Amino acid sequence: MTEKTLVLIKPDAVERNLIGRILVEYERNGLKICDMKFIHASTELAEKHYAEHQGKPFFNRLVAYLTRSPLVALVLEGDNAISRVRALNGTTDPEMSPDNTIRALYGLSLSENTVHASDSKESSIREQSIWFG
Ligand code: CMP
Repeated sequence: MTEKTLVLIKPDAVERNLIGRILVEYERNGLKICDMKFIHASTELAEKHYAEHQGKPFFNRLVAYLTRSPLVALVLEGDNAISRVRALNGTTDPEMSPDNTIRALYGLSLSENTVHASDSKESSIREQSIWFG
């Protein structure tokens, strides 16, 4: 089943010149980039993206981090793209992430975990609309 999913290459990755190395992981696994932009997110955009985490103790930290410097937003397409991209990314906490996942390779911490990907069809549609209109 062909799906699309929204990915963010987050500020900690852009700051450390990791954009190319992360895109290679997706492309060599057969995922197609069908939209992409480099953007310095506003607080409003970051709060919309992380709306489900509003009220959690780490929410303000998360928004401050996502808006501190530019990120890359992209849409990837492929068979079962949502679950495949999440498998390539690894677990939220880089320290627990399986070997060779993007977060195990490059993640710094639970907050600065290098990449984001939609976790369901519904969030993929919602997040594509937030970042690409
Ligand atoms: P992401 O996949 O972008 O989706 C939600 C983000 O919240 C997650 O990555 C983490 O960066 C962050 N997050 C989740 N749990 C915690 C936590 N306990 N402390 C700090 N950040 C968290």
